[in-house]
Amino acid sequence: MNLTSDYLEFIADGLANQDYAIVDHFLPMEEVNDILKVFALHQDSDRFKRAGIGKDDNLQYDRSIRGDYIKWIDPNDALLPVQKFLDRINHLKDYLNRTCFLGIKDYETHFTIYPPGSFYKRHLDQFKNDGARKISFICYLNTQWQPGDGGELRLYLDKEIRDIAPTAGKLACFRSEIIEHEVLLSMKDRFSLTGWMLNLPLGLEFMVDR
Ligand code: OGA
Ligand code: NI
Repeated sequence: MNLTSDYLEFIADGLANQDYAIVDHFLPMEEVNDILKVFALHQDSDRFKRAGIGKDDNLQYDRSIRGDYIKWIDPNDALLPVQKFLDRINHLKDYLNRTCFLGIKDYETHFTIYPPGSFYKRHLDQFKNDGARKISFICYLNTQWQPGDGGELRLYLDKEIRDIAPTAGKLACFRSEIIEHEVLLSMKDRFSLTGWMLNLPLGLEFMVDR
């Protein structure tokens, strides 16, 4: 698939017809490597935190449900490689609003690391008390990934289960309210940028608990 021109339509079609889309080469390898350098910077300064389950007062940490570490991205303070990625997502958001009438107002994104031995059990990306998440997107950054390394994204579709290898440059996106999914046990460090397109503006909340 052509990197720049065709993938927008491919994603819009996928979301409209089957509630998900997978683009193998969403990011060129130079951009993947530049983003991995930003990961290394943040890892050195220990900015990653355990990811929780639920929100606000319901926030819990349970390693038997999810074992990833995250760092939220403040778009106003992102380094250039990350800014470039957010520009691509913004472009996708505008396209989806024009073609699919999704009414996306904003998006939120974090850096994600699944260390060896971690996973995220089957779930939906919606909080019980907050339906703002419309489209989930994950961009994978694992340049050396091979079968056996684990960490596949498992999608529970109507008629089948589909496993997606988390290989570098790939973008997976799906309707947050509809597609149940999980992250299979990862044997290696597994890197990604994970985000959600929201039908509400992020507002001040973003700055408070991140
Ligand atoms: C999530 C999630 C999937 C993945 O963060 O909610 O399901 O492949 N991530 O990282
Ligand atoms: Ni999820």
